[in-house]
Amino acid sequence: MKVLGIDIGGSGIKGAVVDVNKGELVSERIRIATPEKSKPRDVAKTVNKIVMQSGWKGRIGCGFPAIIKDGVALSAANINKKWIGTDVDSLLSQKTGLKVYTLNDADAAGLAEMTFGAGKDYKDKIVVLLTLGTGIGSAVFMKGQLLPNTELGHFKIRGKDAEKRASDMVRKKKKLGWKNWSKRLQEYLDTLEYLVNPDVIIIGGGVSKNHAKFFPHLSTSAKLLPAQFLNQAGIIGAALYARRQ
Ligand code: BGC
Repeated sequence: MKVLGIDIGGSGIKGAVVDVNKGELVSERIRIATPEKSKPRDVAKTVNKIVMQSGWKGRIGCGFPAIIKDGVALSAANINKKWIGTDVDSLLSQKTGLKVYTLNDADAAGLAEMTFGAGKDYKDKIVVLLTLGTGIGSAVFMKGQLLPNTELGHFKIRGKDAEKRASDMVRKKKKLGWKNWSKRLQEYLDTLEYLVNPDVIIIGGGVSKNHAKFFPHLSTSAKLLPAQFLNQAGIIGAALYARRQ
């Protein structure tokens, strides 16, 4: 079965048709920059552009960078505040004329990694997948089941939102070297382990392709693994989610 997966991010909106039985992209990945200010109407238009460009006519799964309950956004850390309270499912379904099912972007990435990627052999464990990008997203699994909307990028470290200290965007903005950024990430992981005690931590997001540069500076009680799907996990996981609805 095939589903169109879309991943809405702070800087780009990406989409591709996914073979949900294999966990593979079966069309070219389309990426369009997120409209400035990322207002609901503008983002919906961009999503529709991706749908038109791909010629898709079936159901759509969509990862979104906020708490999502029953298709409604309940937070907006790195996206326009107008999203709070917006029924993302309805907005995108109306705009595209197709049925859209939305979930948190990190939860989507987690579903992909647990089903086909780095987490597939750890279904009997407690697994936390982190996406390190503009912010820090989290997906928590126990016995292969997702506990949705965990938002573990937002506990406080040194009085600051954790993602404002340790995300990949902070590394880039502050021009931190891998070693210095790793110190911040280590502090973050220490707190995460103290609070959640996972057996496995999977590091996802674009930065995971550079894992060889920073994993050697990290030490965790949990098994630390790089994500397998890099920046495709969100698209694949969103499609998997839509299939299950
Ligand atoms: C948001 C999360 C999201 C993460 C990654 C955080 O700022 O609160 O909902 O999963 O960024 O995009």
